[in-house]
Amino acid sequence: MTEEELSVRLEGRRLGACLDCHDRLDSTNNRARQLAERGYPEGTLVTAETQTAGKGRRGRVWVSPPGTGLWFSLILRPAAPAARAPVLTLAAALSVAEAAEEVCGLAAGIKWPNDIVISGRKVCGILTEMRAEADRVRYVIVGIGVNVNTADFPEEIRATATSLYLESGARVDRGRLLAAVMERMEHWYGLFLRTFDMTLLREAYTARLLNLNRESVIEENGSVLRGRCLGIDDEGLLLIGTEDGAVQKVRSGEVSVRGIYGYV
Ligand code: BTN
Repeated sequence: MTEEELSVRLEGRRLGACLDCHDRLDSTNNRARQLAERGYPEGTLVTAETQTAGKGRRGRVWVSPPGTGLWFSLILRPAAPAARAPVLTLAAALSVAEAAEEVCGLAAGIKWPNDIVISGRKVCGILTEMRAEADRVRYVIVGIGVNVNTADFPEEIRATATSLYLESGARVDRGRLLAAVMERMEHWYGLFLRTFDMTLLREAYTARLLNLNRESVIEENGSVLRGRCLGIDDEGLLLIGTEDGAVQKVRSGEVSVRGIYGYV
């Protein structure tokens, strides 16, 4: 996937109008952050064929071998309250799920907040980082990793990870997939800008939400919450109905869901 090829595919797009493509980076999120600090505009897209220190959520490593995946980060500069930035992660998850379905014909679900899951295995992860000032977003980096043509995974993640190739049986054109993600993201980001929340995205997101109506365990800072997932609210928070009839809102945490990734 070359920069020339990508620029043709992304012609006319606001997201992806400025391209920064590399063979190797430590992390596309780190590079995008540097560019954002230097004033690069909204829509700047950073890609790498491989990442030597790809970052996952919660300080985990994101395995990013050369040539098989899509490892990219997008700079956004919405004039939104900082508290609403997490909605962009949900918008990105929705965009990737739709793009994967469009390009590969696979049914893609979302495990809240932002894992894309196909046939019970994770195919994509998203790491959003932000800089805010006076409770306003200065920039958001949406970092997306998609296992596209991966044929095999390291032992530690083999049971829970998959790729579009393994699921569809066909090699996927990474440039085409990335262009489809940008097209979808432009659509959902545009709707986000109207309200700065999930109002106009909630229905589409919820239709893919694998957590819905399932028993969940959420662990955060040593405390554990158990209950049934009732959906998400307009801020993108997860709604959990507990045994005593209360509804708790979950902002973040390690979420296990019965029936996804083999949790029982
Ligand atoms: C997760 O843990 O699920 C999030 C993984 C996010 C990985 C992507 S790959 C491109 C971008 N650069 C990084 O260092 N991380 C994100």
